[in-house]
Parts: sequence; structure tokens; C-alpha cells
Amino acid sequence: MSPSFRSLRDLMEVTEEAAAVPPPSPTPSSGDSEKELEASSGKEVELADSLIHLQQKEERTTPIEEQLLETLKKEIESTEKLEKPKKMVRVQSYEEIVDNASVAHIPLKSYASVGTSFEKFELNSIYSAIKLNNAENTAMMEEAWETLQKSYVYYKGRPVGTLAAMDPTAEALNYNQVFVRDFVPSGLACLMRPASAGGDPEIVKNFLLKTLHLQGWEKRIDNFTLGEGVMPASFKVLYDSHRQKETLVADFGGSAIGRVAPVDSGFWWIILLRSYTKCTHDYTLSEMPEVQKGMKLILNLCLSDGFDTFPTLLCADGCSMIDRRMGIYGYPIEIQALFYFALRCSRQMLKPERDGKELIKRIDKRITALSYHIQNYYWLDFTQLNNIYRYKTEEYSHTAVNKFNVIPESIPDWVFDFMPLRGGYLIGNVSPARMDFRWFLVGNCIAILSSLVTPAQATAIMDLIEERWEDLIGEMPLKIVYPALEGHDWRTVTGFDPKNTRWSYHNGGTWPALIWLLTAACIKTGRPQIAKRAIELMEQRLSKDGWPEYYDGKAGRYVGKQARKYQTWSISGYLVAKLMIENPANLLIISLEEDKRISKPKFTRSISF
Ligand code: GLC
Repeated sequence: MSPSFRSLRDLMEVTEEAAAVPPPSPTPSSGDSEKELEASSGKEVELADSLIHLQQKEERTTPIEEQLLETLKKEIESTEKLEKPKKMVRVQSYEEIVDNASVAHIPLKSYASVGTSFEKFELNSIYSAIKLNNAENTAMMEEAWETLQKSYVYYKGRPVGTLAAMDPTAEALNYNQVFVRDFVPSGLACLMRPASAGGDPEIVKNFLLKTLHLQGWEKRIDNFTLGEGVMPASFKVLYDSHRQKETLVADFGGSAIGRVAPVDSGFWWIILLRSYTKCTHDYTLSEMPEVQKGMKLILNLCLSDGFDTFPTLLCADGCSMIDRRMGIYGYPIEIQALFYFALRCSRQMLKPERDGKELIKRIDKRITALSYHIQNYYWLDFTQLNNIYRYKTEEYSHTAVNKFNVIPESIPDWVFDFMPLRGGYLIGNVSPARMDFRWFLVGNCIAILSSLVTPAQATAIMDLIEERWEDLIGEMPLKIVYPALEGHDWRTVTGFDPKNTRWSYHNGGTWPALIWLLTAACIKTGRPQIAKRAIELMEQRLSKDGWPEYYDGKAGRYVGKQARKYQTWSISGYLVAKLMIENPANLLIISLEEDKRISKPKFTRSISF
């Protein structure tokens, strides 16, 4: 039986031990030599052959893991800074390898964390995946690409972003704008798609430059001016027929419901800039003085000294994807994870010239403090829950165990049932006397992608997703938050919000757009089968339902009450997930390896480790 790989690093160690079979050689190609290209395609067949040989003899790894192994080995070996590579490595797709293999030989991986029922499911899902109606899937992909292209927004003849939705039956409101966060999966899809198939990094570059230009505007809400670095939530192109000119109109929160500025936009901008650079190797963009300045302005907003006693970022409710009142004020995990991700991305791109050096020092300090804080105080698993349950309160001075004076009676009943023996997650929020125990998907996946959590914690998050599949995935991926607020909690926390009723929209609703984040996290932790299973569920309905923005209900069975159809990030999120499953090397465009300079806290507490 093949061992269970807890992480890619484990996978690498195990595979390195399996030296009985010579490791498959990577397929380097300089990209400019046709000869080398030919030679490398020949080697791919060899690689596939040796991989299959390895599986048959050793049954140690799946082809997808082997590819990642090779690719990530390279990634880990490379230095922290985004180095200009001398050679490009082409990693063949999973499909290519499978084409060379007899389907019956695909080894099945069992996970230590799952019981027999899941293993049975794995068997069924893999065989049904093999039998999947490929034609139908191809048609779905084609429809997705076509619709994505139709959503392009042009400014002075150039594509600069994608519309949030193109639902002809619903009032546009602000869905006819380019949202920064919504554009991320669209941009990634354009980056990951091979150039021969229509990949288009140009739109990403234009988007990054246009939004940078908007950052330079003076941002005023009533009589108050926002910080210089704030990035818009969204923008649109207006045609001034009088002046016969196109103009851009941006929203920095001034028109948003609740008038909250989007804290996530600037972070996503930095993350996408790093993805663009990583994918295209075009360093001229990130090195432009105005781009360097844009990064610094965003970071200065978050790194300024103040009254904070925590390294986390204090936020107002509704400042991210969940842009309505939902009790995420304080130190929400989504923002903390994005903050960490953006800090690490900018660390790779900032030039140490002039004030750069000083800023880099501050970034390093914050990265260390933030990861310590999150890994320690946001982490919840069975053992830690039991610790909190037995906490003493009113402890004074630095020797306190219960540092934030959390009263155990405030632990909601549902957590005790929800918490499996195996697995764990980062909770939603930590502040004085307050732990928000809700599960938030974005924060947890971003924490995996940015290596904010340790590899052991990343594995435990995946264990939790498997163990609580019905709750977190159900019939359609993916729950944005679990559980929903109901009754009195809903009234007091959301302020009677009729759009965020229980199991709807941001309050326990299901968001297909998030599939790319789950898929990336699954591949990174060496568990692609989890993503495949979720994608299969999605493929049964998403296109037939008209690519809705969200689904309602505990199992995510119903198309959301006010959901837009042809929601762009539902489309591009699906495309990015498929592009990563087909070619796991695409993960590297959006993922960061562990920062080895950060000293790790010693975890002894959980059986999931
Ligand atoms: C809604 C969502 C927000 C998204 C926007 C555009 O406001 O809450 O996350 O960015 O729609 O799709």
C-alpha cells in the first residue's frame, strides 16, 4: 500500500528514499533551442515511462505527485528572491502522463486521516473520473473560456480587467465593474493558459498598471481622506460622449455598502504582481519605479506603528470578500493571511535601494511576528480546543496561559461536534476575550499557499476538509464560512441583514469561485484527489445553472436567491482549478514555499500532527 504523504516535503523525502529506481530526470529546455525542445519532448515519454515503472514497482507516488516533486524540488532549491532563471523547466501535464499509462495501473492513495468510507469513495471517484464524459468537460471549459473573454473590459482599446458578472436578467448595480479581488482568478487563468492556447499575460499587466494609476487618486469620503496606498475595490470605464473620451471611475469604499474600504485589494494587487512576474519572467514591470512605489505605499499603510499590541491588522467589518456586516471586524483571518502573503511576495520584489532596505527590515520582523502569532493563537484542533475548554481566566502578567482572557463558556456548542479527532484549522478571529471559532475557507487556503501555517498544520487543514466534507463542501463547493449565524446571533451580528440570512450568501453560502483556492491548497499539500472530487461535483451543475455567483442551503443545493448568473469569478475560478489539476506546475505561479528563516514554534499538542 502506498504511504500517506502528509505534505509535499514528506513526499519528497519518501521519494528520495526510494532510490532503487533512478529518479526521473526533469525536462529542461532553454526555450530558445529547438533541438533541446525536441530532445525534451522525447525525455517526457521517458519520464512518463519511468514514472509508471516507479508506480508499478513501488506504488509509492502518483504521477501528479512525481511532477510536483520535481518541480517543487527546483522551487525549494531556488533562492528566496525571484531569480531570473537561466533555464525554463517544462513539466508535462497529468493528462499527458495518463495518456501513456494503462488506466488500470493508476495507484490509489489512501490517507491516514480517512476511514474506509472515504477510501471507497476515492476508488469510485477515481474510476468515475476516468470514465468522465470528457466531451462534456471540454465543452464546459470552452464555454468558460469564451464567457471569460466576453467579460473583458477595454480602456483605450486594451483589455484592463473583467466584469464581475454578465447577467442579462439582473440589475447590474456594481457588477458591471472590474473588482480587484474578482479579477485575481481571471488574471491567473490568463497567466496559466499556455500561449499556444490563447494565454494572455497582457491583460494582467494592463490591469496592474491601471489599478496602480487609480491608487494615485485622492480618496475622500465626506470630509475624510483615505491613506495614499489604498487600492480600489472596483473600477469601471465610462464613455464621456460629450468629450468623446473614455474615463475611469473607481470605488474605494465610498460607494460600497457600509462605506468600508477594501483592505484586501492592495494585498491581492501585490500577490498578482508576483504571479505575473513569476509566470512571465518579465521583471521590468515589478522593477518600474512607480510599481515599487505602489508596493511601498500599500505596505506603509499596514506597517506603521500605532497602538497595536498584536502583529495582526485591525480591520472594520466588511473590508474583504465578505463586504457586508458579518462579525469579521477585529483581526479576521482572511486579511491576516493575505497580509502575510503580500508581505512575503513584496519581500521578493522590493528593491533594497534607498528607503527599501529599511522597509525590508520591517517586513522581515513583521513576517516573523505574524507567523508566530497566527500559528500559535489562531490554531485550533481537538487538543487545543480541550485546552481552551479548561482555561483559567483572569490570569494577570506575562505568565498567563490564557493570554486573551477567553472565557471558556463563550465557546459555542457547535465547535465541540464539528472538531474531528484528526485535523484542525485557523479560527476566524482572535482579540481580547474573543475567539471567533467559525471556519473561513479563504483564510485557511491562503495560509497554506503562503506557508503561513506549518506543513503539519496545512496537512491537518486538509484532514479537516475530508472529515467534515458534508459541512464544508456538501453538494457544491465551497462554503465560504461555517457554520451560518442564525436567530439571535444573526440579528445581533449582521444587524438583521436580509441578504445574509442563514446558509445564504456570506453567511454560510456556497461560492464556486473559491474552487481555485482549494485546488491550489490540495496540490500544495499533496492531496490533489480532494480537489478532483470537489471539481467533479461542480462540473455536474455549474454550467447548467448558468455559472451562479453563489448557492444557498446547508448543502449548497439551491442557486442563491440573489445570485447573479454568469459571475466571472465562478467561471475563472473553475478554469484556474482545472489548469492546476491538469498541470500542477501552475501551482508555483501562486504558491510560496516555507520561509526557512522563520523560527517555528514547537507544536506538540495535536494528534493530527
Ligand atoms: C459582492 C461580493 C464581493 C465581490 C463582489 C463582486 O459584493 O461580496 O466579494 O467582490 O460582489 O463580485
